[in-house]
Amino acid sequence: MKKRTNYQCQGCGATLSKWAGQCSECEEWNTLVEVAAAPANSRQAGALTSAAPTRVQVLSDINTQEQPRLRTGLNELDRVLGGGLVPGAVILLGGDPGIGKTTLLLQSIAAAPGLNGVDALYVSGEESAPQIALRAERLRVPTADLKLLTETNVDRIIEIAAAMKPGVLVVDSVQTLYTEVMQSPPGSVAQVRECAGRLVSFAKHTGVALYLIGHVTKDGAIAGPRVLEHMVDATLYFEGDPGGQYRLIRAIKNRFGAVNELGVFAMTDSGLREIANPSAILLSRHSDPVPGSVVMVTREGTRPMLVEVQALVDDNQTGQPRRITVGLEQNRLSMLLAILNRHGGISTAGCDVFVNVVGGVRVGETAADLSVALAVVSSLRNRPLSNELIVFGELGLSGEVRPVPGGPERLREASKHGFRRAIVPKGNASKALTKDMDVVVVERLSQALDVVDGMR
Ligand code: TYD
Ligand code: MG
Repeated sequence: MKKRTNYQCQGCGATLSKWAGQCSECEEWNTLVEVAAAPANSRQAGALTSAAPTRVQVLSDINTQEQPRLRTGLNELDRVLGGGLVPGAVILLGGDPGIGKTTLLLQSIAAAPGLNGVDALYVSGEESAPQIALRAERLRVPTADLKLLTETNVDRIIEIAAAMKPGVLVVDSVQTLYTEVMQSPPGSVAQVRECAGRLVSFAKHTGVALYLIGHVTKDGAIAGPRVLEHMVDATLYFEGDPGGQYRLIRAIKNRFGAVNELGVFAMTDSGLREIANPSAILLSRHSDPVPGSVVMVTREGTRPMLVEVQALVDDNQTGQPRRITVGLEQNRLSMLLAILNRHGGISTAGCDVFVNVVGGVRVGETAADLSVALAVVSSLRNRPLSNELIVFGELGLSGEVRPVPGGPERLREASKHGFRRAIVPKGNASKALTKDMDVVVVERLSQALDVVDGMR
């Protein structure tokens, strides 16, 4: 019998016919992963060209009319996808076990037939049919048109889906799938990649919108959905504090819309509830102003959102000052502390500095810089800032405050939520708003520090 799999080194790409602990080409250890023999390549090439014929075309001749998008039944999910599902698109939904991936997609695709008039097929390799049925009942979603299949053999799944021709297909989860071509166990990199490859190619050929659910483990890599990111059209991450109520869904990659778009949900007894106005929930409401707390306006994708940055600066007892961040990049904090020291004359040497973004939100924007710096100063001096104040702006290494995109939208969002004072970069102030808001523009960090000193 012809051998159907080989082993490929993840380091140098060498293909070997036998598994070994060490790659004989580059001598790296534990890098060999099972791969399907030759056909895999031709199949992948096929996936790229999808239904289009294999011939050279002139770009201007290609039909660029956008296909109508399928609605997901959840506005927040539509937003993250860039306005709904594109037929034939493959969406990878990653997240920690238990975060709510099954719940989200059950709620969404149960609504799909009613909204779009297409069939939906939910393939579960994790839970039994009665378990899913019970859950759907609890979620009170329409189940009359929701088709369920419990199967983990990817080739069977494709066969059944090909016969049924659903408009939307969910596979929960890629880690449970296997194909008999590979000897590796389900969940291994080899199986996950091969099975996903087969499903992606199926979606491209048939035009079914496909969701792949994948678990990410805390340490990431192990056969997690990361190996799939390059194969899919959109990668969404479902995150949030598992103990907490709020869940955020974020597009990391999206061929059909903006990345970093954020959808916000609350997990309730009857499933996920959309939060159309997240600003209101992401602020911890202090009746009196507290030191170390600054509200900033971040812009995730296209939506401005108010988030609270909290800092705690404490004497260090161990001789090794710590800089710990939750929801922000740690290196950025170190840089901001250096800028504060050099250009604001405020030293945190010998102090532990902790910075947290409230509500489990992750802020990647440099627009958070000025608010982090002011939160640190406020905690260090144990002096609260006004709770009517919002701050945003990027800090440069020479102590300058740089404007950020979307200044007027940010200010409008703040004004809508009752904030009456703002410290923003020069160039970000909006004339229209200065009536109901006291907006102070600053060009340097030192000016911003003077402004908060004078504010009492
Ligand atoms: P689930 O969707 O199964 O997570 P995943 O598929 O990502 O592993 O969600 C599981 C958690 O959600 C579980 O801890 C219970 C909670 N949950 C609710 O709080 N309310 C609900 O209505 C449902 C269905 C789940
Ligand atoms: Mg699940």
